[in-house]
Amino acid sequence: SELKTYSIANIPADGIGPEVISAGVEVLKCLSEASGSYKIEFEDYDWSSETYKQTGSYIPEGGLDSLKKHDAIFFGAVGAPDVPDHLSLWGLRLAICQPFQQYANVRPTKILRGTTSPLRNAKTGDLDWVIIRENSEGEYAGQGGRSHRGLPWETATEVSIFTRHCVERLIRFAFETAQKRPRKHITVVTKSNAQRNGMVMWDEVAGIVAKDFPDVKVEKMLVDAMTCRMVLQPNSLDTIVATNLHADILSDLAAALAGSIGIAPTSNLDPTREHPSMFEPIHGSAFDITGKGVANPVGTFWTAAEMLRWLGEEEAADRLLECVENVCESKVVTRDLGGTAGTKEVTAAVCEEIKKSY
Ligand code: NAI
Ligand code: MG
Repeated sequence: SELKTYSIANIPADGIGPEVISAGVEVLKCLSEASGSYKIEFEDYDWSSETYKQTGSYIPEGGLDSLKKHDAIFFGAVGAPDVPDHLSLWGLRLAICQPFQQYANVRPTKILRGTTSPLRNAKTGDLDWVIIRENSEGEYAGQGGRSHRGLPWETATEVSIFTRHCVERLIRFAFETAQKRPRKHITVVTKSNAQRNGMVMWDEVAGIVAKDFPDVKVEKMLVDAMTCRMVLQPNSLDTIVATNLHADILSDLAAALAGSIGIAPTSNLDPTREHPSMFEPIHGSAFDITGKGVANPVGTFWTAAEMLRWLGEEEAADRLLECVENVCESKVVTRDLGGTAGTKEVTAAVCEEIKKSY
């Protein structure tokens, strides 16, 4: 019978994006060839800040329609030193996430075998979280405006939007995620003492959704206290759900606590599967190391594993992450993890490990 074939849209974009995406594609090809049980095809989209500077837009006319024919999107990073960050983020990343209703941003973090956490007492297994971030509205809904520009009485508003529909679907997805993990534990993070409208509604909705998941243990935390908890008692947390802004910040902290921003993945999911979901390393375009061949590809490999999992290739996903951890344990790691290897050496080592594993 015909092998199942997945079609992936690559958007490497800016900075180290192309370096890590090409490493990711190499590893994904190596894995599908070694497995022989499915096929994977890639199509490159060269949308970037370069395109923006030349044409005035990141995504050409009809671009989103062409993305729709793929099973998933493999995204690098967007952002250039000479383009304001709010233009690049809204021009490319949010321009895909929002219309495609990729409302659940999933960010797993753990201390990979062979790597060390900056937390003195945290070892592999002591920090193993998945953060679920609201990805369609909240503080990043784009509501607001500026009046009286440049005058002393200039006024700017940035209004958070919380709709019951969007909060409910996200919290439900987070409970489903928690239920599938061994510990069945969820921490609902808000700031409902100070933000007394939207955040109080979050807490209420979480309380209602929780009734449908009697086997999941629920806990509530305020976001400021949560930062302390993550540092001091990492082992007491498992699944974490929070708003767009809060989870954005908490997940960078999570990545740093796990050892490096260079290892962490993120998935922008449309759980209804009406649109393709988008997978990317959590880090940005890292201009300071672009072109030096030292970018850590591990975050992109883990991202690739999460993409395979979403496509239904669980076995390949688990194997890939195993191989990545074996390579970390063998100390073939980049500078950010205390090693001396370059992107290409780590990539080659992971491919070797994959071939060995079959
Ligand atoms: P960044 O993540 O690009 O870099 C922060 C620090 O981490 C830098 O020192 C960098 O060298 C290091 N780093 C990042 N990824 C690494 C990797 N794979 N291996 C080794 N070291 C790595 O964040 P920054 O500097 O705040 O932003 C740079 C640009 O990226 C900005 O334009 C920003 O808007 C954009 N950005 C884009 C994101 C996206 O496309 N989703 C996410 C975050 C930032
Ligand atoms: Mg961020």
